[in-house]
Amino acid sequence: MTPPPAAKAKADTALHANTGIALRSALGRFATGVTVIAAQTPDHHVHCMTVNSFASLSLDPPLILWTLRSRSARYHTFSKTHAFSVSVLAETQLDIARQHAMPPPDGFAHRDWKAFLGGCPIVDGASAHFICKGHTEVNKGDHVILIGEVTEFVEHHHPPLVFMGGKYYSGSSLKPL
Ligand SMILES: Cc1cc2nc3c(=O)[nH]c(=O)nc-3n(C[C@H](O)[C@H](O)[C@H](O)COP(=O)(O)O)c2cc1C
Repeated sequence: MTPPPAAKAKADTALHANTGIALRSALGRFATGVTVIAAQTPDHHVHCMTVNSFASLSLDPPLILWTLRSRSARYHTFSKTHAFSVSVLAETQLDIARQHAMPPPDGFAHRDWKAFLGGCPIVDGASAHFICKGHTEVNKGDHVILIGEVTEFVEHHHPPLVFMGGKYYSGSSLKPL
């Protein structure tokens, strides 16, 4: 039975009011790894942030993507950089994931960074590193998609850190089915 117009309008409004929270919760069912994206600015500061929107895009050419909140304070750094790294965090690196998700001064910009690969700052001890040069930007909604070409990568067999439903999990505790 079709609801009367007034009842239908009320249902639509209720759905709309809760969409942000409900959508975020539903999207959180998609388990991901956790990465730290890092880039060095000309003044030798390393800017980095915790990101779980990282995904593979293409093998030939080798392309990856991640998304950044367009109003993020880091937007200007990452949209201008010529090179950035993606470190796929190991399960032992929960503190690093938390630290680089924090607002400055604890997170984001650092001097005296120790580990580099292909001239890019990386997080030492991670499960994998991808060095990406150049990038394409696609602005959509409240995020920008950043696409980078992988010029170098390294894989280490450390179990990964996993993120799902707003919580972190250890990759080594996952059971193969
Ligand atoms: C597990 C996790 C994953 C995140 N993934 C992203 C992401 O993909 N893109 C993003 O812009 N911010 C992401 N963030 C948030 C950033 O790490 C950081 O907290 C945020 O950029 C700070 O606020 P800002 O958006 O004003 O810069 C993530 C945070 C956590 C804890």
